[in-house]
Amino acid sequence: FEVTWDAVAAEKGGYEHFMLKEIFEQPKALRDTLAGRLNHDHVVLQEVDLTPKEVALFNKVAIVACGTAYHAGLIGKGLIEHWAKIPVEVDIASEFRYRAPLIDDKTLVVVISQSGETADTLAALRESKKKGARVIAITNVVGSSVAREAHDVIHTWAGPEIAVASTKAYTTQIEGMILLALYLTQAKGTMPKEWITEIISELGKIPDKAEIILKEGAERIKTLARYFEEVGSAFFIGRGLDWAVAQEGSLKLKEISYIHAEAYASGELKHGTLALITEDTPIIALATQRDLYEKTVSNVIEVKARDAKVIGFTFEGNTDFHKSVNEIFYIPETVNELAPLLTVIPLQLLSYYVSVARGNDVDKPRNLAKSVTVE
Ligand code: G6P
Repeated sequence: FEVTWDAVAAEKGGYEHFMLKEIFEQPKALRDTLAGRLNHDHVVLQEVDLTPKEVALFNKVAIVACGTAYHAGLIGKGLIEHWAKIPVEVDIASEFRYRAPLIDDKTLVVVISQSGETADTLAALRESKKKGARVIAITNVVGSSVAREAHDVIHTWAGPEIAVASTKAYTTQIEGMILLALYLTQAKGTMPKEWITEIISELGKIPDKAEIILKEGAERIKTLARYFEEVGSAFFIGRGLDWAVAQEGSLKLKEISYIHAEAYASGELKHGTLALITEDTPIIALATQRDLYEKTVSNVIEVKARDAKVIGFTFEGNTDFHKSVNEIFYIPETVNELAPLLTVIPLQLLSYYVSVARGNDVDKPRNLAKSVTVE
């Protein structure tokens, strides 16, 4: 009699893949990253040491990252500009390094890196410090190079992420960006106190809502994954913050299912890409930004006219969107700005189920590494 003990299976805690485990760990990761940082009407970031006077001197924020972390940065731009009224640039680290960015001591540089070891991101951090910028890092690894070298660090508390395709690191990076955006906003006094109180209260409810999506939505997403099993190409469309989430959804699908996917700002479709949309190209249409909703619907009608199958994602309580799409997935309601934290979860699940159905190595997709420490 021999006991067989599979250490890897044990680490997966009953899940078939690390990616699925990590997707399901998001409510906890989201809760842990907020813990101790939300007060009734203000956020507390003990690791960031900026006075309101120093914040007032920044005339620009430059966010620099790679891959999924870059997509978290796109959301950060939307929030910091909208709330704290500071102009924001977002760069892919490998581009930032070589484009002679205009950085000086009035620039706040924010580098985002799950591992804290990505070569290009680290080089961007060093270059920014050399030019006199203040550098804040958002990272998941305590003691990583990025954490050690930045002036201030906002840790995400996602716990170890093993699957190459990033999931819980991404959602907690968005939380890091939200916290930083609120921190800058309260230092600058650019939004009313009551408004900050409301966002903080909504933010506190996000982990429970993520849990609802996972409990009640996973089976539905598994069914929707069937649309993608045989296709060669898919599009993700959205406006505003939905466009940023579309880019991450598209990356997830490409990374692990190997289906060619593109994210498009809905309004840009008609400038060329519409020609690529046929009945064999499923479209994921994100419609969580209430102020942009009507515009998004008119873009969905354009793609439907090409006989594309459209899967829509919107808030519960939207009784209109189902009329314009073939399938619909409802996300628990929250304020527009926090929607990305929830919208991406069904998209992660979708990529996962498509990848499994196609027989791919979900946790170790071909030719990709978890952390890229060379240029
Ligand atoms: C690699 C990973 C991606 C990740 C990117 C940036 O390409 O496969 O999932 O988003 O690196 O990694 P970082 O650790 O800097 O967030």
